[in-house]
Amino acid sequence: MKQQLDEIRRQAADSLASITSASALEAFRIEFLGKKGRLTEVLRGMGGLSAEERPVIGQLANEVRSFIEEQIAKLSEDLENAALEQRLAEERIDITMPGSKRPLGKKHPLTSVLDELKDIFIGMGFSIAEGPEVELDYYNFEALNLPKGHPARDTQDTFYINENVLLRTQTSPVQIRVMEKQKPPIKIIAPGRVYRSDAVDATHSPLFHQIEGLVVDKGITMGDLKGTLEAFCKKLYGEDTKIRLRPHHFPFTEPSCELDISCPACNGKGCRVCKGEGWIELLGAGMVHPRVLETCGIDPSVYSGFAFGIGLERTVMRRFDIDDLRLFYENNLRFLKQF
Ligand code: DAH
Repeated sequence: MKQQLDEIRRQAADSLASITSASALEAFRIEFLGKKGRLTEVLRGMGGLSAEERPVIGQLANEVRSFIEEQIAKLSEDLENAALEQRLAEERIDITMPGSKRPLGKKHPLTSVLDELKDIFIGMGFSIAEGPEVELDYYNFEALNLPKGHPARDTQDTFYINENVLLRTQTSPVQIRVMEKQKPPIKIIAPGRVYRSDAVDATHSPLFHQIEGLVVDKGITMGDLKGTLEAFCKKLYGEDTKIRLRPHHFPFTEPSCELDISCPACNGKGCRVCKGEGWIELLGAGMVHPRVLETCGIDPSVYSGFAFGIGLERTVMRRFDIDDLRLFYENNLRFLKQF
């Protein structure tokens, strides 16, 4: 029996040498130490031993058992360490490898010029107002002194949701919404999208952007309009920019005008950009019509105001000498990367 035990120890040591996985190690444990394992089998024969032999063999058997158990524990630890090492090696990051570059985006030219424009007006004490793009006929036309059937409506055909709801054709309805809620002094700009049912070409788009301006207070005059807009034009196009006002008509202002700036490309001498005129049309403006003030519950005998509307696309086109408005919406990177 002693021989058998020695043999088991020897075989166990042999087998262990070739074990390289946790599953093989478990199979080995069952083979030698399991309930039907080889050691247990030998121990079953202990009953046939004499009283002297029994403790000797018993001790030997215990030694063999602890020898195998120790070996299993040690090998199990070695295997775990090896597995961890392998995982670490496989998952190692080479920090010297060049990273994958993410191209940095930038602002769309419409956004960057709008931001610049907002900064200029905020610097002059204006705050920013907003209104809905899906607008009521009342705000877009009626309250702006454009009753149903008014001929000026024909120049601003748009998309109707129903008879009274439409996509706004201008940012001017924000004037009404602000005046309904806020009592003077009022000093706001309202940038936003506007819509018209125009066919797309180099200078027309069914969607474009405007910036509305409105100032209402006691004693506001055409002089305030001119001074404010001149300061704005000089900031946007340079200090030596000149402005001129030409009479015009808008239903919601009286008197109304259009504002031209001296051509920034040729300084007013006349060139391709200004088509030889020396002047470029920039925006529409005027003194808020007394009827519009009244409609909003503001007494025109106490308060007066001026308003203006700037087309963003046109302003940006002039600024960068862009001759086709479609470029703004096509998302062609070769175009967008230039700004
Ligand atoms: N809403 C006008 C348009 O779309 C632009 C405009 C002109 C706005 C004069 C104004 C203004 O506030 O006073 O053609």
